[in-house]
Amino acid sequence: MDSAFAIADHERYRDHTVELPNSIDLSHHLSSLAKNRQSSALKDLYRYAARPGMIGLAGGLPNPEIFPFLELSAQVYTHDALGITPATANVGGGGGGGGTGSDAQSMVKKPSFFEWLFGKKTTTETITIGKQPASASPLDINLNTLLQYSSAQGHPALQAFIREFVSKVYQPAFADWDVLLNIGSTMAWSHVVFMLLEPGDGVLYEEWSYPGAMNTASPLQTHKVSIKVDGEGLIPEDMNKVLAEWDEEKRGFRRPRVLYTVPTGQNPTGATMLAARKKIIYDICVKYDIIIVEDEPYYALYADPWQSQKHQPKQIGARYADVEHHTDSKDTDEEFLKKLPPSYLKFDYQGRVIRMDPVKKASYPDFRNKSAALVAKLLAETWKYDGYIRWLRGIKATYAMRRDWMCDLFETVFHLEFDQTLALSQHIRWVTAYERTAPGMGGAGAATIMDEKRGFKSNKAIVSFVPPTAGMFVWLAVHLESHPRFAQIKDADGPEGVNKMLYELWTELAEKNVLVSPGYFFDAQPGVPHEGTENFGFFRLSFSMANHEQMESAIKTIYKVFVSFFQEK
Ligand SMILES: Cc1ncc(COP(=O)(O)O)c(C=O)c1O
Repeated sequence: MDSAFAIADHERYRDHTVELPNSIDLSHHLSSLAKNRQSSALKDLYRYAARPGMIGLAGGLPNPEIFPFLELSAQVYTHDALGITPATANVGGGGGGGGTGSDAQSMVKKPSFFEWLFGKKTTTETITIGKQPASASPLDINLNTLLQYSSAQGHPALQAFIREFVSKVYQPAFADWDVLLNIGSTMAWSHVVFMLLEPGDGVLYEEWSYPGAMNTASPLQTHKVSIKVDGEGLIPEDMNKVLAEWDEEKRGFRRPRVLYTVPTGQNPTGATMLAARKKIIYDICVKYDIIIVEDEPYYALYADPWQSQKHQPKQIGARYADVEHHTDSKDTDEEFLKKLPPSYLKFDYQGRVIRMDPVKKASYPDFRNKSAALVAKLLAETWKYDGYIRWLRGIKATYAMRRDWMCDLFETVFHLEFDQTLALSQHIRWVTAYERTAPGMGGAGAATIMDEKRGFKSNKAIVSFVPPTAGMFVWLAVHLESHPRFAQIKDADGPEGVNKMLYELWTELAEKNVLVSPGYFFDAQPGVPHEGTENFGFFRLSFSMANHEQMESAIKTIYKVFVSFFQEK
């Protein structure tokens, strides 16, 4: 009955092929609250609970005989239910073994005629969890154990599964790492906040960051310290400068010791950081003794860059690891994994990286309550490691397809150009969307000017973005400076005025039934101008939910609203 508390060492997943150093002592980072925590004396007893023949009279555990659930059962997709190659809007179906037909909205494979005829292939299966243990192993998944009080680390089977995943996929550079199951990234981050920070401490964030994380740290009255970003995320030179020039007296708080970062498909900017820059950031964190907390809900969504219909490949978009593109369907699982940017863990020879790895975005969000039992059953016993990797490949293709829809629609509706002028990052290709000069899209009457590089073009840059290689968002920079009243408003009201203009535009879109997130929700230091982009307002557009028709209608509305906004006198 108490076996979940005790997972024997030999049942943990370990990679015995590599000799790695142990982590260094970083206990000076613990907050006074964390230092004052004491382990529960009762929980210490549980170590003995699973010993064969042990008669348990110690714990106040309810008797599982009277737990009301006798069996849990669910019908689930098979691990290969999703196609691997993103379908295009016109062709449809999940390629790479995916189905055919005109349904471009779904990546779920349809059984072929022969599969249907011979009843061989189906995309769903049933998983069932019974009440009684089928074996004495702590890895056994049964309701008596799953519904019982258990170790804070989570169910042993799920723990073992995650250990195998971390070891093979992230390959930490130190030996004595461990995993802890949480109900989500926000809760994990909240634990980290209280474990590491004192009231009034500073936290390093990307200059645009996930509000959920910043709000989680605010009850401790932490200070947000923003680091500049470009299309690949944190800029090392800026981070180094902020830390090297830290003046405690002037700032009023000590140099930050914690970095919160979303390295892949960052929310909201969509930026993805590759290996070389991660190594530099890691070394800066070693130099200034900083704990890196990487929050990676979008990791497995990292996909081939968007391919413009009209421009040369590789001209446009966020940087992608130097690998062949558009071979996803032919990749082995090994090759799929090799294409993912390495985790900070891969550089972490000291044990200063905490990785938060929500599986919610790659499966489903409600992990609360007893659904944890089904997750254990699905991942650890049904799909297992190989099945989960295959599932992630389908998820990646699904969101890559949706990213392509959005970028393609921008290309169709606006006049898109590869931007030479946006010097926000040298190696990330921004695209700028201009008002169309051709009649038909509401851009009639737009003035055109001759440009040496571009030939004739509309003179009104409307929005710019980096086609993302991961995540669920396009981070849209709105060229507010193109508005006739911009200079006047900015002079009068500063950054607040810029936000007011953006709010006007946001309201206009909302009135026309297009709901986007205003960028200032994500601002890590409101009121402080973002050097290089201070004349832009930002919107975050998610491509995760809308179907193609809705997305098309939204982008056409955005076009019309923006063009008329910028024509306003
Ligand atoms: C960067 C980031 N972290 C965390 C979360 C939420 O994670 P969870 O639901 O696991 O708390 C989100 C959701 O949007 C997110 O974008």
